Formats: sequence, C-alpha cells, structure tokens
Amino acid sequence: MIFDEEINQTVRYIKPSGIRKFFDIAATKKGVISLGVGEPDFITPWHIREEAIHAIEKGRTFYTGNKGLPELRKGICDYYSRRFNVDYNGDENCIVTVGGSEAIDIVLRTILKPGDEVILPTPAYVAYAAIIEMAGGKVIEVQLKEEDEFKLTPEALRKVISERTKAVILNFPGNPTGGIMTYDDYGKIVPILKQHHIFAVTDEIYAELTYEGKHCSIAVFEEIRDRVIIINGFSKAYSMTGYRVGYILAHKDIIEMCLKIHQYTIMCATTPCQYAAIEAVNNGDNDIEEMFLSFRQRRNYIVKELNRIGLKTHMPQGAFYVFPSIAITGMKCEEFCERLLEEENLALVPGNAFGDAGEGYVRISYAYSLDEIKLAISKLEHFLEKYR
Ligand SMILES: Cc1ncc(COP(=O)(O)O)c(C=O)c1O
Repeated sequence: MIFDEEINQTVRYIKPSGIRKFFDIAATKKGVISLGVGEPDFITPWHIREEAIHAIEKGRTFYTGNKGLPELRKGICDYYSRRFNVDYNGDENCIVTVGGSEAIDIVLRTILKPGDEVILPTPAYVAYAAIIEMAGGKVIEVQLKEEDEFKLTPEALRKVISERTKAVILNFPGNPTGGIMTYDDYGKIVPILKQHHIFAVTDEIYAELTYEGKHCSIAVFEEIRDRVIIINGFSKAYSMTGYRVGYILAHKDIIEMCLKIHQYTIMCATTPCQYAAIEAVNNGDNDIEEMFLSFRQRRNYIVKELNRIGLKTHMPQGAFYVFPSIAITGMKCEEFCERLLEEENLALVPGNAFGDAGEGYVRISYAYSLDEIKLAISKLEHFLEKYR
C-alpha cells in the first residue's frame, strides 16, 4: 500500500477480521453452504417492520436528539427493568447507538487513556481487541476454558489484573462459545472488580438467548453499579441486524462523555429505525420467545449430532453458536476450515479468528434453518470419515 508510512500505524497493523477473510474466499465459490454468519435467519416481525414503514410514510425522517428518541430510551429502560431487574433512567442513563458496534467503540474511547489495560476473556467477538487498540488501550487476554464451561473464573481474572487495568470486557452469553455467567458466577468476580475499581463493560447482546434459567446482568450488583457499562441492541433478540440500533446503559457521567463522541461522529441513530425499535422493545416480548424456542431446538439438535459424528461439543448455555473441538482430526483450525470449504463446500469459522485461545476449535452458527444444519452435518460427517 502506498500510504503505509503515512497512515495511523495502529490502524495499519490491525488484522482484518478472520471471519470476513474466510467468507471472502467462500464467496468466490459456487454452491457453498455456510454456517458462518452470526445473524438470525428470521425476517424482522411484521409489526416492527410496519413501524419503520409508517415512520417513513409520516415523514419522520429528520435527525432525532443525539441521545435518541425519549420514548425509545424509556422503552429500553422499562425493558431492562421488566426482563432483567435492572433499573435505569431513560433521560440520564441511556444513549441509542448505531448497533451494539458503535456502543462498543464509543464506550472504549470514552474510558480508555493511552496504555490502559483491558482484560479480554478469549475466545472473544472479533471487534473488541481491534477497538481496544484503536482506542489506545492494551489488550490483556485471559483464556476461557472448556472445562470451566467458558466462564470467567476469579482465579483467572486475578492473574491478569495489574495497576494499569481499567476495564474487563464481559460478553455472556458469549460469541463464539455460548458461555454464560450466572448470579453465583458473577458473585465470585464482583468483589475483585470492586477492590480494583475496574469497569465492567458488559455486552449483553445475546441476553435473550439464555437457554437454562434467566440471563443475569452484572448490573444487578449494586456495589459496583457505577462502573458497570451495559452494551446491548436489537440485532439478535428481534432479528433486526440491518436496522443498526443498539444502546448503552450506564452511570450518567459516563453517558455524558460517550455522548460527546456520539454527537460529533454519528449525530443520532437512523430515525425510522428508532421508531421500529420502540415497537420492538414495547411489544416484542412474544417475538423474542418464538425465536428463542426455535434456536433452542436447533441447539439441542446440532450439539447431539456433532457429538454423534465425533466432534466433541460442549452444550452452550446461550447465544446461537457451538464451538466444537476438532482435536480428533489433528488439524489446525484454519487448515480444517480451508479443507472443509475446498472438499465439502461447507464454510465454518476457524476458532483462532476469536483469538489464539480458539485454536483447536471451530465456530458453527446455528442461526440457519434445520435443513441447512442437517446438510452441514452430513458434509461434516463425510469429511471426518477421511480425517479422523
Ligand atoms: C458479541 C457481539 N457484540 C456486538 C455485536 C454487534 O452487533 P450489532 O452492531 O449488530 O448490534 C455482535 C455481532 O455479531 C456480537 O456478536
């Protein structure tokens, strides 16, 4: 590239997403079946789409206030109170963002000073490490282990805390492992976060896909509440990925600072989509339930089938991903995925796209129809006959 020396060197050295890299290859081949993308396969429920259409029809197509429509912020806070027992005030504690993605970016840019360390439990969603670095922070990985059900343990957390630790990223239910943290699990790490004044940046985008019991938000722990920053959005729970609506819930002082970045870079989330989100958050509980039941059925099926064909797969407690071990093939995860794509026309994501801790695993999304999942299983079975 001709501008190598001139551009921002942090950006220059950030690796492109391992997921995208792989799907660019898949896109060049014909007839590829993909279980790679983390996007619900349902069409957004009609009553939600209708609100976006109405908003456009009525000419509600102007900027909203920077924080987002007051009715939406109130709806979001009511939703958190109703579903997760966490109370926030829509006027003070909420900003509507362009997806959870923008929320991650502006939260990290707000809290990080140059050189601050951020503890990142890995394997982790691909955006965190890149955004931490672009915000001037340093990523400190802590490996989540299958034998701990991919939970963050107090022992593991303690080992990576230093004087420079500013925040920990919590993503439970998690992408790519499907791991969750219960109230008791959080109870063990909360005193450590409190003692070291660490911000808990909790990305709860898969909260509604918690299969056993209810999702627990770390914000229920009042003793650290001031330093809890919730990131969430409409993409996964309501199948609204393309609407690009997310939000931050946090202490009002954090919100005020995040707002500065948001107002200068984004101005506001898309107006018709905010109206659709109001409908989702106020009247979408039944849609969540329907999609949840379907995902749970697919999870049960795919885990049983993967174990049957010989890929040892932990039963994920949340999200819509499984993370099987490919140890029986003796291959590295990239080699496994490349051969699978080449020989069976099946695209999965290599585990190391989510950090080095993901080596030896692949991520399979089951946000696909049962027919596609069945076809993928038969392809995998055929592949394993050759390589186990
Ligand atoms: C853990 C996690 N957080 C955030 C996002 C971003 O979601 P969006 O920007 O669509 O709200 C994703 C998308 O896959 C994700 O997996």
